[in-house]
Amino acid sequence: MSRKILVTNALPYANGDIHLGHLVGYAQADIWVRFQRMCGHTVHYVCADDTHGTPIMLRAEAEGIRPEDLINRVHGEHLRDFTDFGVVFDNYHSTHSPENRAYAEDIYTRLKAADLIDARAIEQFYDPVREMFLPDRFIRGECPKCGAQDQYGDNCEACGAAYAPTELKNPRSAVSGAAPVLRASEHYFFRLSDARTAAFLREWTTGEARPGVRRLQPEAANKMREWLGFDGDNQLTDWDISRDAPYFGFEIPDAPGKYFYVWLDAPIGYLASFRNFAEKRGDICVEDYIDAQKAAACGTEMVHFIGKDILYFHALFWPAMLEFAGYRAPSQLCVNGFLTVNGAKMSKGRGTFITARSWLDQGLDPEALRYYFASKSNGSMEDLDLNLDDMIARVNADLVGKYVNLASRCAGFINKRFDGRLGVIDEAAAQAFVDAWNEHTLVEAFEARDYGRALRETMRLADLANQYINDKKPWELAKQEGQEDALHTVCSTALTLFRDLTRALKPVLPSLAGEVERFLDIPPLDWRGLWQPLPVGHRINPYNHLMTRIERSRIDALIEANRASLAPSPPV
Ligand code: MSP
Ligand code: ZN
Repeated sequence: MSRKILVTNALPYANGDIHLGHLVGYAQADIWVRFQRMCGHTVHYVCADDTHGTPIMLRAEAEGIRPEDLINRVHGEHLRDFTDFGVVFDNYHSTHSPENRAYAEDIYTRLKAADLIDARAIEQFYDPVREMFLPDRFIRGECPKCGAQDQYGDNCEACGAAYAPTELKNPRSAVSGAAPVLRASEHYFFRLSDARTAAFLREWTTGEARPGVRRLQPEAANKMREWLGFDGDNQLTDWDISRDAPYFGFEIPDAPGKYFYVWLDAPIGYLASFRNFAEKRGDICVEDYIDAQKAAACGTEMVHFIGKDILYFHALFWPAMLEFAGYRAPSQLCVNGFLTVNGAKMSKGRGTFITARSWLDQGLDPEALRYYFASKSNGSMEDLDLNLDDMIARVNADLVGKYVNLASRCAGFINKRFDGRLGVIDEAAAQAFVDAWNEHTLVEAFEARDYGRALRETMRLADLANQYINDKKPWELAKQEGQEDALHTVCSTALTLFRDLTRALKPVLPSLAGEVERFLDIPPLDWRGLWQPLPVGHRINPYNHLMTRIERSRIDALIEANRASLAPSPPV
C-alpha cells in the first residue's frame, strides 16, 4: 500500500554555518526520503531556518544589521550547503514567516481555550544597561561549586555542575558586562504538568508509528520513562513559553511586549514550511497531514528527524501542544546521535569543527561523506565517529575499488569492441547473483535507517560481481581469438550487475546514481520492477570517470582550513 508521509528535519539556527555534525541527521533523513520515494510512496520533505531568539537578535546587532537581513543571508547559505550535499528538501522555509505566525497564534489560542496556558510572575536576571532580561547563556560568572572563572549561567564547563544563574558568584551580563539585577515579570506557561498532558504523553511515547514499528527508538523511550515518571513521580514541570521585549520573534496575541519563546514557534515551522509548499504546489491538502481527524482518516504519517539533544522538545512539548490544539501528533521520531571527529568532540582548536562549505571548497566529494555517514548509521541514537583515516580507506575501498571498478573494467570493451551495444547475458551468473541478492534485508535495513547494514549487504554483492569478472578475466578474453562473444557476454553481465548495485546505492549516492543512469542510458532506477536484464543491443554511452580516490593531502588541507578560519568568536 502506498504511504503518504510528511518528513521533516530539525530546523538549523539561523546564526551559524552548517557543519559536518549537522549533516549526519540531514543525510540520514534525505536517504530515507529517497528510499521511500523509490518504493513508490508519496513523501513531502520540508525544512526551514530557525530564526528567532536572543542569540540571533544580538548577532545581527553585533554585525550592525537588522535580524531580517541576517536571517535572509543565512537562509541562502544554508540552502546552498544542503543542496550541494544532495539534501534536497521540497521546501526550505523560515520560521519568520506569515504561515508560522498564523499557526503559532492558532495553536496558542487553542491551548489557552483548553485551559493549558497559565500566567505567573517570575524573577530573572536583568541587564540594567542593555535593558533586557538575560537568558542563562548570557550570564557569566564564577562556578558556585569549583570556583572556575567565566562560566555560563546554567552549568560549569570545568566541573560539569548544573545550577541556577542566581547561584553564580560575581555574575556579569555577557552582553554589556554590567552586573545583572533580579527583576520580576509576568510569563506565560504551557501547563505540561497537567494530568491530561502526562496521560497523553505516556500513551503517545509508548505507541507505534505503524503496525510493528515503534514511535520512538528504545533509548528515546527509556528517556521518556524517566521524564514521565513511569516508575515513580511524574517529573513534568510547566514550560515557560514567553519572553519579554526586546526579543526577535512573534508577539503574543493580546499580550503587548511579550513574545513567544523561540522553541514554541520553532517546531511549528514544520507545519509552516509544509503549508507554504502546498500553496506553491496547489495540489496537496495540508489538512490531510496535520489535522488530527483528517490525518487519522487519511492514514498519513508525520515523521521528524532530529538530533538527540533536542529530543526533550520533540517528545514532550511538541506532541502535547499538537494534541491539545487539535492537530495531529507526530507518527515517529527518528533521533540521531552526535558526531565526533577522530573520537573526540568537534573542536575549533583541532580543526575538526568542519564546515560543510569547507569540505566542498577542498574539492572533496559530498557523496563520499554521505556514504561514510550512511555506513556508520544503524538507526540508533548512538554517537557516530568520523574517523578521517577510516573514511578515506572505506570510501576508496568500497566505492572506488569495488563498485566503480566494475564499470570501469567493462565499459571500455563494450564501447570499443561492440559499438557501445550490450550482448547476451550470462544467465547462470545472473541467476546466481539474483539468488544471492537479499532484497528483503535491503528494504528492511533502509526502512529501519540501518544504512550500515544495507551497505554491507550491497558490498557483499559487489564482491560477488567482482569475483565473476576476476574468474572470467575479460582482459584476457579480449586478447584471444574467437572469444568475442564470451567477452561481450561477460562485460554485458557485469554492467547489468553494476546497474543493480547502483539501485541499492541510489538513496545514499543520488548524484553518482544519476551519472550511472546517463552512462547506461536507462530510466531512473527504483525499487519496483526488479531484474529486467538490459535488452540485447541496448546502447550505452561512453564511460567517464565516476569517482576518484580521496587523497590524504586534501583531508590535511581541510583540517588546516578549519583551523585557520578560526575567527575570534562574537560575545554570544
Ligand atoms: N534550531 C534547533 C532545532 C529546532 S527544530 C524545531 C537546533 N538547531 S541546530 O542548528 O543546533 O541543530 C540542528 C540539528 O543538527 C539538530 O537536529 C541537532 O541535533 C543536530 N546537530 C547539531 N550538532 C550536531 C552534531 N555535532 N552531531 C549530530 N547532530 C548535530 O537544534
Ligand atoms: Zn565548576
